[in-house]
Amino acid sequence: MTNNRLRIAVQKSGRLSKESHLLLRRCGLKFNVDERRLITRVDNLPIDILQVRDDDIPGLVMDGVVDLGIVGENVLEEVELERQAANKACQYQKLKPLDFGRCKLSIALPEEFDYQGLASLQNKRIATTYPYLLKRYLQERDIEFQECLLKGSVEVAPRAGLADGICDLVSTGATLEANGLVETQVIFESQSAIVQSAVTQSDEKQALIDKLMSRINGVIKARE
Ligand code: PRP
Ligand code: ZN
Ligand code: MG
Repeated sequence: MTNNRLRIAVQKSGRLSKESHLLLRRCGLKFNVDERRLITRVDNLPIDILQVRDDDIPGLVMDGVVDLGIVGENVLEEVELERQAANKACQYQKLKPLDFGRCKLSIALPEEFDYQGLASLQNKRIATTYPYLLKRYLQERDIEFQECLLKGSVEVAPRAGLADGICDLVSTGATLEANGLVETQVIFESQSAIVQSAVTQSDEKQALIDKLMSRINGVIKARE
């Protein structure tokens, strides 16, 4: 399998998609996105944009399937911990934080929960999509908890009687509010970042990455 085009993975649909496309366009890449397609060819440079689920981006970078990825640090860190635990390759290089997609990973509890600090979470069941980040945070603070692993609808778990609380992303806070939950503890602050695979690049690809990064730096500087 040979591939001479640089591959960049971006989120297919979600909070980071538009900003990711905008950033690449501001760097001079010309492309038309068809959301149903996995690969979008850039017209004016040897670059392919892969549109995938955000959760898949870190693994694709760490396995060297793609050269670059634009992804939230929350997902990146979670997958890194998960792969460490499974003895899988988890190297990557963070090239730059991108100053969009800011959010917090927080523990949130039902309004009626009598919260007196972290000790109140002892042996509670917490619903989350981020078990490794949650475990790291609570273990470092000697709090034991029960897992309720969900890939979606985390915010309804307490009301549905599946968990005592949740640990999920908070951006505007609207999701928590709509579900009668109160943010009690921020465990990770996140923004998007551009990351590079640790797998050795050809000189041509590395030169293209360097060119792209200098353009990204220019775009970000111009915004400040
Ligand atoms: C997160 C989280 C909540 C929502 C919170 O999901 O799971 O559903 O955003 O945002 P708010 O505070 O602005 O209401 P997101 O769509 O970012 O990621 P996902 O689809 O990958 O779970
Ligand atoms: Zn996701
Ligand atoms: Mg969500």
